[in-house]
Amino acid sequence: MHSSTITHSDPYKYQSGFGNHFSSEALPGALPIGQNSPQVCPYGLYAEQLSGTAFTVGRAGNQRTWLYRIHPAAMHRPFEPFLSIQNKVIGNFDTNNTVTTPTQICWLPFEIPESEPLDFVTGLCTIGGAGDTALKSGLAVHIYAATESMDKRAFSNSDGNLLIVPQQGRLDVQTELGPIMVAPNQIAVIQRGIRFSVGLLDGPSRGYILEVYDNHFELPDLGPIGANGLANPRDFQTPTAKYEHTSDSWEIVNKYQGEMFAAQQDHSPFDVVAWHGNYAPYKYDLANFNVINSVSYDHIDPSIFTVLTCKSVHPGTAVADFIIFPPRFEVQQHTFRPPFFHRNCMTEFLGLIHGEYEAKKDGFLPGGACLLSTMTPHGPDTKTVEIATMHELLPRRICEDSMMFMFESMYQLRLTKWAAKHKQRDHNYYKSWEGIPIRFNPDKI
Ligand SMILES: [Fe+2]
Repeated sequence: MHSSTITHSDPYKYQSGFGNHFSSEALPGALPIGQNSPQVCPYGLYAEQLSGTAFTVGRAGNQRTWLYRIHPAAMHRPFEPFLSIQNKVIGNFDTNNTVTTPTQICWLPFEIPESEPLDFVTGLCTIGGAGDTALKSGLAVHIYAATESMDKRAFSNSDGNLLIVPQQGRLDVQTELGPIMVAPNQIAVIQRGIRFSVGLLDGPSRGYILEVYDNHFELPDLGPIGANGLANPRDFQTPTAKYEHTSDSWEIVNKYQGEMFAAQQDHSPFDVVAWHGNYAPYKYDLANFNVINSVSYDHIDPSIFTVLTCKSVHPGTAVADFIIFPPRFEVQQHTFRPPFFHRNCMTEFLGLIHGEYEAKKDGFLPGGACLLSTMTPHGPDTKTVEIATMHELLPRRICEDSMMFMFESMYQLRLTKWAAKHKQRDHNYYKSWEGIPIRFNPDKI
């Protein structure tokens, strides 16, 4: 592995692979043999199916997991509105809720309000999105800024799958299928309906979330790259079963149609003793990404750095791609090496986990973000252009000690008013492209 790999010790045991039919038991013999739902399960557990796709989806795409648990998940009191945060998270991006602009937008780092007691759920804020959760169509981008661990509170999202990108602070994520530790430079995906609770291991914490309503994340096809490269399946890690049997009071917060609800119950939701199936959360360390790129000339489209994709019904077009810009060698000759100037039929939301972005030297900082909407022109800033057109094209390392990512979507995002009017919004972003030298001379080729 490359020397710039960032490693974090992780206390948990995982199963390797992507989309496998995993199985795990915290007590020997807890998994029934030969059938999913015996009349009485081993250890007196209850069998419960968690369906991530419709029952009738073809075998190759079908996702479901069988849980063997102490209490069926249905054992809770009715859901009531969870009012305290309703105004910060939305799941319907109609014109009443949101505003829009084609302008290039950059936010300085979203602040963590350290004097406020906020956990992963109450610290969630929606930046923008498209579509409607009720139609299971579209996506949302959120920021979380938390100052304390979730205490006897679990979260479940009925609206879609969450791809969590921590930027500051490691997260200790207890899920129904077992615990995951996820650190900056790693990601976790927690699918629709899976209950989880987030502990903060390093104090105040911040990160980005991509939520997709339509479909599931999968590894991109590799085409002529061949059987290996980009994110390798064996580097994805799915938890192993771990349960607690308590009679504590727990609160289950459920995001449903973009609104938050809470229900009380008198036992831990993390009482799954064993499970098997292919609908399970996972983590991935971005340092394991096998970077593919041009070794001759020209800047390759950033799709070459796709970690995960959530496909739309349009071939080759994604509801959302998760793309990263890892440390790598840059060797192209006769080439303007930074990302080219362009306009894109897709929408680009960029975040920075750590370090400095290669195409913008000022103002784009870890914990901040940029939004480049459909057909909004963008490209390297003036300083980057000046350097890239002058410097000698020797092979060199770039993006060392840095990790930027992009959520790229076929949808056009609308912004929440919170994000559009945010005090961290940099209204001077357009100046990134002021002063680019105009070198045109009709008398000289
Ligand atoms: Fe772009």
